[in-house]
Amino acid sequence: MSRTTEPGTGAPTGATDRVDVSFMYAVHDAFQRDLDRLIAMADAGDVSGPALRAGWDRFTTFIAVHHTAEDTHLWPVLRGRVSDTAVLDRMEAEHNALDHLLDAVETAIPGPANVLAARAGELAQGLTEHCDNEEELALPLVQKLLTRKEWNAFGNEQRSKLGMSGAASFFPWLLDGAEDATRRTVLGIVPPPVRLLYRAVWRPRYERAPRWQMPASA
Ligand SMILES: [Fe+2]
Repeated sequence: MSRTTEPGTGAPTGATDRVDVSFMYAVHDAFQRDLDRLIAMADAGDVSGPALRAGWDRFTTFIAVHHTAEDTHLWPVLRGRVSDTAVLDRMEAEHNALDHLLDAVETAIPGPANVLAARAGELAQGLTEHCDNEEELALPLVQKLLTRKEWNAFGNEQRSKLGMSGAASFFPWLLDGAEDATRRTVLGIVPPPVRLLYRAVWRPRYERAPRWQMPASA
């Protein structure tokens, strides 16, 4: 099949076959849910157990993989196809700003709890604003200008960075507290062996291990 380009964009015509960005929404929601759990734990003074560090290691690994893949596989591709790069400049600037907020939380672990709660709150606010901006401003560009092949390359990059051991933790974390509709969407996207592993092995193991959880009183 011959490949032509969208008028004025340089994007292949395949880009009109819109990519499904529902997985991106699920990941953004999971980041925000996870920070809500961290803030609630810090507010409750629950900062001394192994769950605090385990949850932070998991959160920082997943957000680094996600943002790095966006920085290498989404924004540079879009940069070649838009005349105004303001949205992409903003995405990169927000990623840099979030790195500083992440560093501030890292410094505040293990406590005092009130300092950790404050730093985690600042991170949560910055991340929510960034996710909102990305969903409102950047994802429409992704859907308009990226081919399925390019979108899949973005997903594959994250999968290869996570590896099997990362996936074993990532999928239960992604669906921990997710709405039923999101759970159905995500489990409908992944291949059947991943679904099976998630249900039979990964989720039970994730639930047995130390992790961030809402305090019983929250
Ligand atoms: Fe994202």
